Amino acid sequence: MTDQRMLTGDRPTGKLHLGHYVGSIANRVKLQHQYETWLILADLHMLTTKNARSDIDEISGNARQMVLDSLAAGIEPERATFYLQSAIPEIGELNTLFQNLITVPRLERIPSLKDMASDASKEEMPYGLLGYPVLQAADILCVKANVVPVGKDNHAHVEVTREIARRFNHLYGETFPVPELVTSEVSTLVGTDGHAKASKSLGNVIYLADSAEEVRTKVAAMYTDPNRVRADVPGTVEGNPVFIYHDAFNDDPAQVADLKERYQAGTVGDVEVKDKLAAAINRFLDPIRERRAAFEAQPGLVDQIIVEGTERTRREVQQVVFEVRKAMGLAGAYNQLRRKAERAQKKPATQT
Ligand code: TRP
Repeated sequence: MTDQRMLTGDRPTGKLHLGHYVGSIANRVKLQHQYETWLILADLHMLTTKNARSDIDEISGNARQMVLDSLAAGIEPERATFYLQSAIPEIGELNTLFQNLITVPRLERIPSLKDMASDASKEEMPYGLLGYPVLQAADILCVKANVVPVGKDNHAHVEVTREIARRFNHLYGETFPVPELVTSEVSTLVGTDGHAKASKSLGNVIYLADSAEEVRTKVAAMYTDPNRVRADVPGTVEGNPVFIYHDAFNDDPAQVADLKERYQAGTVGDVEVKDKLAAAINRFLDPIRERRAAFEAQPGLVDQIIVEGTERTRREVQQVVFEVRKAMGLAGAYNQLRRKAERAQKKPATQT
């Protein structure tokens, strides 16, 4: 454990699934032992593409669900601080100040922003969405994080954070660490339907909160080798979602090797392969279910974890903003005006 700080997080859009687990959560669970850990619930970022009143009404429920999922997956509340972005207005203040440290063409060159705009069916780029990486820089630098583990789609954003940190330090003096990008070297998980990505909107995911029965139903409906019309037809293992999931979640490698061999030889039925997969995923989810039940048994605990984390973070951020305003000389501008105003009040003008 160093005194280095790690910060990462998600937009509070819903429950976590197995794709999140292999893509980021497993990595966070590991890294929390190495770094002082912050996990942001980035609801202001959610607003860049989803800002209907009905979306906003779901923030608290989604945030609670996501934190519960994270705790169930092994994030320890003693090690990690969760915070709700919109409850810390100082992040907006940093965002405003950082906007002057980067250009529009620089942001326009980031492909993920265009993808997000088109995914949200926006014909034109919203101003806030163009500024998404700048707000992300505020999230990261507001606690002076040193390390930011994110997936590929966020690499360009963290690069912007690094540029903003360097630019700030250059203009106003050494204030921020230039945070390191850590790739979550873990893979993206295919969907249960064979689609390249597991995603909630595609409806091809197994949630960490799914029951054993839900897992069995979803696995039974999984996409496999479409050429395999009967159990005695040799099948393809490579790229087959059922075996990708076996490799990712089955704790019995000998069983997986045996199933693969028989699948390729045409001596095992899909039903057996899937039954064993459902059982393996349920073995994997069982300890997660137990921890979830333990946290749920204490009503209000998750809310308390979020609120305490947010308040702790806010105090920290207020100090950083104070330092930022001082480094920039902004604190001085208003103080000069105030001092003059106070002096004027003390000795009223004589000549009117
Ligand atoms: N951009 C991240 C996402 O894709 C969420 C996020 C917001 C984030 N602020 C962050 C991630 C700061 C890491 C660090 O959902």
